[in-house]
Amino acid sequence: MPATLEYNFVHDFTHFEQHVAKIFHKYGWTVETAKPNQPGYDLVVKKNHCVVAVQVKWLKNNATSTQLSKFADYLDSPEGKQFNAGIFLTTKGFGGPARALIKSWGQDTKIRCGVATDNGFNFINGDVEVTPPPEPPKPGKIYFGVFTCKGGVGKTTVAAHLAGAFALQGFNVALVDLDPEENLQKLVGDGVYVPNPKGMGTTIEVFKGEDWHEDAARDAKVVIFDCSPAMERNHSELVAKFDYCIIPTTLNPLGINKHGKVIQETVKDIRRINRNAHLFVLVNNFKDPGYRRLQILRRAYADIYKETSKIDDKFHCIDPEEVCIRASDLLYYWGIHILESPDNPRSELAFNLIGGRCYPREDFINLADYIEQKAGIGILRD
Ligand SMILES: Nc1ncnc2c1ncn2[C@@H]1O[C@H](COP(=O)(O)OP(=O)(O)O)[C@@H](O)[C@H]1O
Ligand SMILES: [Mg+2]
Repeated sequence: MPATLEYNFVHDFTHFEQHVAKIFHKYGWTVETAKPNQPGYDLVVKKNHCVVAVQVKWLKNNATSTQLSKFADYLDSPEGKQFNAGIFLTTKGFGGPARALIKSWGQDTKIRCGVATDNGFNFINGDVEVTPPPEPPKPGKIYFGVFTCKGGVGKTTVAAHLAGAFALQGFNVALVDLDPEENLQKLVGDGVYVPNPKGMGTTIEVFKGEDWHEDAARDAKVVIFDCSPAMERNHSELVAKFDYCIIPTTLNPLGINKHGKVIQETVKDIRRINRNAHLFVLVNNFKDPGYRRLQILRRAYADIYKETSKIDDKFHCIDPEEVCIRASDLLYYWGIHILESPDNPRSELAFNLIGGRCYPREDFINLADYIEQKAGIGILRD
């Protein structure tokens, strides 16, 4: 699909060049701009000992065969020989003679020609490896923080049941309570055992913040922190460990705006301590408002986080139509067991089937899947 001049990034050469550089950068290439008036190329991109000259051609019309030949000649020149390859990227497309020229080149040609789209390149003669390989499984533990700087939106609920979803998939999980309210300890203080008819079951073990140590849960692959809503109460050495952070929010009109602004600030706070964690805004307590209202709410929700998504490629605002945690009586009344028998509290999750199904169970398994997909398959499984 050729790019059209309607894309913002094609407004002028500078925007276009920046856009191209950003795409290379996103896929793990280092990017250098050429000196002003450097003949032959505009950018140099490098990855794994591969040094590539990139010609960025901003055109309102199709690229011509003459423009391609000139770049090919440059790559064959003594100066051009320092590059392993050349990439010719343009805005619109390639005319008939240019296509014929590209077809005439052999498979082992050093040049790849393509059109930049809003999130990648369409190459017309063989792909260049710009996409990143999937992240390899992380040795050791995977750390999750569940954090939002507001009480009562579902941090504890999400932390405990996400732990449940991972335990159902066969991972041992450690849950760490960083909130001075200690709700998590009250609700699942004794941990949860998930039996497995085919073999060893899995456990969710629960720790107080100050009792937490990696060695205390040596066989836990997943560690989930139920954070305090006051950012400064969460020890920064723990926040620095997060691989993923789930930020629960709500999708009611006031919640979107009020909470949205606070979350943007929160993201900045987290980023001061941790630049690498994937951050996921998650809609909790979702009540289906009907098609029309849902579209309005989704648009407002995406708008609030648009700027943050643009500048932070590890910030994900989860579309509630894809994954959300639905409002459910099971979650609403989860915890009644500690009121029922305060002297003999049970540790349990709201995962019981009702009529053969369980919304929370389905929603949290979907969430766990979504995170794995977004982060690259294989983060957990070796
Ligand atoms: N998806 C949901 N459906 C119904 N009730 C929910 C849901 N998520 C949370 N709740 C209710 O909201 C209350 C606050 O949730 P909690 O997890 O304690 O929030 P936080 O830890 O952020 O203070 C809980 O009592 C729980 O019953
Ligand atoms: Mg809580």
